[in-house]
Amino acid sequence: MIEQDFIPKSLKNTLDKGSFTWSTPSNIALVKYWGKKEHQIPENPSISFTLDACRTTTTLSFSRKDFNEHFSFEVFLDGKQKDDFKLKIETFFKHIDIYLPFLKNYHFKIETSNTFPHSSGIASSASGMSALALCLMSVERSSNEAEMTDEYFNQKASFLARLGSGSASRSIEGDLIVWGKHDKITGSSDLYGIKYPLEVHQNFKNYHDTILLVDKGEKQVSSTVGHKLMHGHPFAQERFTQAHHNLSRLIDVFKVGDLKTFIEIIESEALTLHAMMMTSLPYFVLMKPNTLEIINKIWSFRKEAGLHVCFTLDAGANVHVLYPESEAEKVFEFIQNELVAYCQNGHYICDRIGFGAKQL
Ligand code: PMV
Repeated sequence: MIEQDFIPKSLKNTLDKGSFTWSTPSNIALVKYWGKKEHQIPENPSISFTLDACRTTTTLSFSRKDFNEHFSFEVFLDGKQKDDFKLKIETFFKHIDIYLPFLKNYHFKIETSNTFPHSSGIASSASGMSALALCLMSVERSSNEAEMTDEYFNQKASFLARLGSGSASRSIEGDLIVWGKHDKITGSSDLYGIKYPLEVHQNFKNYHDTILLVDKGEKQVSSTVGHKLMHGHPFAQERFTQAHHNLSRLIDVFKVGDLKTFIEIIESEALTLHAMMMTSLPYFVLMKPNTLEIINKIWSFRKEAGLHVCFTLDAGANVHVLYPESEAEKVFEFIQNELVAYCQNGHYICDRIGFGAKQL
């Protein structure tokens, strides 16, 4: 598929009003996306676990208006008007206008809510943008002349979500999603996420992710700024090559169920992401002292207990603790006894690998 394939050929455009609701999950990258080219094209491929509990639910209601040059919409978060979201959505609409030519024919009401607290430090852009993209795809599907396959529907939803927030392209389906072209993964694309098409060992089924909320404040540096700082970064090219290599290594890891190598790759990816932040100009640090306390505790526990618990990080201070289903009981006991003390107000979220968006 290329960009042109996402421009609709024939829309009936007969709907006067309606509404659609989608619930979409967040995701956690195992190989990280950090650095992009124009039009949200990633500098390297990434792969993520789709989550299950951390979700956004969005209802998009639409009513016909006279066509003019302007987008018309209002946004509500948890029932309250949220004008500070408008700029981001206006920019998103501008980027997707050519792919959804009906946008200026309607007034939209966007009502959204998250299962995780708004100020938890968990980015809502992946689940938020994918939920909106899916609602818009439902509008397109119902005004389309021709029957639309589910495959096209999901691909285009991911394509649109990507234009809102790169990582949102990985929040349409589950349970393992690849976004970005990789030589060894047939069908992978810089334009949209695909379900990981190769063999995955039982060890990776129902994987757990307990998210430790270390710092719930606003990030000091947004990911938009962070991605830009990879332009002219002294280690950028090496990093992009490394991401390709790590994804190649994961192919075998997933096939044979090699948890030891999985841990090595996943933790290295997390620390490399933060190393890129610390070595850009201007440099910045998103980890907090408790992030490091938790990492050290995980390392000691893993050595002592011989279990396969590991961590990954997003662009923030929170720690995602990853562990297989077979060790869940023992690891969760360790988390409660030794790690929760490092969370802000003792807050954490129990999540696990999930299977993607649902229409409600
Ligand atoms: O989707 P963005 O532009 O918010 O970037 C997300 C980048 C990371 O979360 C740090 C990594 C990733 O691949 O999700």
